[in-house]
Amino acid sequence: MRLLLFATADGPVSQNLSVFSPASPSGEAIRGLFILVLAITGGIFLVVEGVLVYSLLRNRRRVAAGEAEPPQVYGSMPIEIAWTAAPLLIVFVLFLVTARTEWEVRPGPDDRPPPGSQPLYVTVIGRQWWWEYVYESYDGREWHVTTANELHVPASDDGAPRPVYLTLKSADVVHSFWVPRLGGKTDLIPGRVNKMWFQTAERGLFLGQCAEYCGTQHAKMLIRVVVDEPAEFERWLANEAKPAVEDPSAAAGKKAFLAQSCVNCHAVRGTAARGTYAPDLTHVMSRQTLASGIVPNTPDELRRWLADPQQVKFGCLMPAFQLSDQDLDLIVSYLRTLR
Ligand code: CUA
Repeated sequence: MRLLLFATADGPVSQNLSVFSPASPSGEAIRGLFILVLAITGGIFLVVEGVLVYSLLRNRRRVAAGEAEPPQVYGSMPIEIAWTAAPLLIVFVLFLVTARTEWEVRPGPDDRPPPGSQPLYVTVIGRQWWWEYVYESYDGREWHVTTANELHVPASDDGAPRPVYLTLKSADVVHSFWVPRLGGKTDLIPGRVNKMWFQTAERGLFLGQCAEYCGTQHAKMLIRVVVDEPAEFERWLANEAKPAVEDPSAAAGKKAFLAQSCVNCHAVRGTAARGTYAPDLTHVMSRQTLASGIVPNTPDELRRWLADPQQVKFGCLMPAFQLSDQDLDLIVSYLRTLR
């Protein structure tokens, strides 16, 4: 409930997760296929169930009237041919439309963007149970930006497409990246590289979630895609690329943070914290949520998370470090400066 209320700040969750309101070309192709397959299979369902119900009712009346069984027919060649040919034809049609949609939604062999576009390339790494995003390049310029859980992308405009190409990898088990309004599910498989792409002119927040069971907290491996104005996106990207800000007022907090084992797993660029196992915290305050989208990123939630992550997200790979109240306050005050 808490989760629902939280996410509804940006409109109804059900609507934001609906494949019926696509906001990208691949989303539209998938909706078209979905409706066609639903219509065909729905039609088959109605015909089969209709014949079944009809014969049930009809023959019940006959038995009640004391009539004898109708003649039993064995081995009718026309019927055999009909019910072999009809399903074959239907399966063939389904195969063709599915293959065409598959062709439409996959990126080309070299992720070749259309001429005049400003493509964004991001590597997505699925981890138990959060998402790591490594920004590789945007509009021909290279970036080396690592962030977590909230994927910022630029909106497209007429005449200025900004396609987003995702390279999907896994650090542990199979996950699946799924933002229903932007595109189909694509798996992240250990030892394999998968690709997908999307492009949208619609600004705002798009919700998604891991769509392949990956362990205890699979259900709370949420995805947030923020589609920004291009200028705003560039500002965001430039800020993410910077090392952490040095705020003298948080010097004691920084010392407390660096003294703890946080640094073994987390990185804060520009400091001695260089862990690569857990989310990069260099600009953790630029994110709206914590723990892969399950709680808002407020000082209280941050403190609760640091005090005992297992209370917030049971089974997550961050243990409780039994920090004193004083250390908690200091570390929260430091993290709050990482904008
Ligand atoms: Cu990751 Cu389910």
